[in-house]
Amino acid sequence: MTLLDKFKKMPSIDVNRLPVHIAIIPDGNGRWATRRGMPRSAGHREGANTMKRIVRLANEIGIKYITFYAFSTENWKRPESEVNYLMSLLKEFLQNADRELAGSNIKLQVIGDLSRLSDELQEEIHRVTENTSGNTGLNLIFALNYGGRDELIQAIRKIVKDAREGRINPEDIDEKTVSERLYTGGVPDPELLIRTSGELRLSNFLLWQTAYTEFWYTKKLWPDFSKKDFLEAIRVYQQRNRRFGGI
Ligand code: FPP
Repeated sequence: MTLLDKFKKMPSIDVNRLPVHIAIIPDGNGRWATRRGMPRSAGHREGANTMKRIVRLANEIGIKYITFYAFSTENWKRPESEVNYLMSLLKEFLQNADRELAGSNIKLQVIGDLSRLSDELQEEIHRVTENTSGNTGLNLIFALNYGGRDELIQAIRKIVKDAREGRINPEDIDEKTVSERLYTGGVPDPELLIRTSGELRLSNFLLWQTAYTEFWYTKKLWPDFSKKDFLEAIRVYQQRNRRFGGI
């Protein structure tokens, strides 16, 4: 069976015009579980499974970068038990990463302020990013303890320091000066942003990087998000007319 046969009943996309980078806000895990009378943690577990399915598909069709908003700087406000559960899911994913990512040529990267994560988690992240650093397939990026404003503040601090120490001239500061000092330095801006569960907010995700990003949303909750939905988002993206402020 060829790749095309496999996607026959799926929304048809042009594999030669794929977005290079897709950003995803996987929202609605909690509601998915609550509606089923289950604890919120069950929604997060199901959400992690959805994430794995979408990552495999993205890698298979040739997407180069996918960034998941896995844990925001605001998510610490959740009950401690829920924060701990999310951290344990992440740890589980990383511990199984050799198996999950083996043979897939996927490279794991993380963005965000990792210093607030446990030492154990930081070590696991370091281990998996090192082990997969030579891979040339999909770049899977987890945003962890990530906030767009926080990222800009870090970048501004670096720029001020570089200027003060004479490495850059304030007059020469341009978009590149900022871009390369963000957590995403070296990563192309996302062309497409997907958000589930019907919310129409950016929620402090990739503020600088989404200046010209096409936004696609669905009312479906993240655990219900399917491969078909992912391909549909790409199909719609491919029909949009991106003008970048031109005509
Ligand atoms: C949103 O649902 C989801 C999150 C806060 C976390 C995203 C986590 C995953 C997709 C799974 C685990 C991640 C990794 C990296 C293995 P919500 O809790 O905001 O749902 P609600 O809006 O219905 O309450």
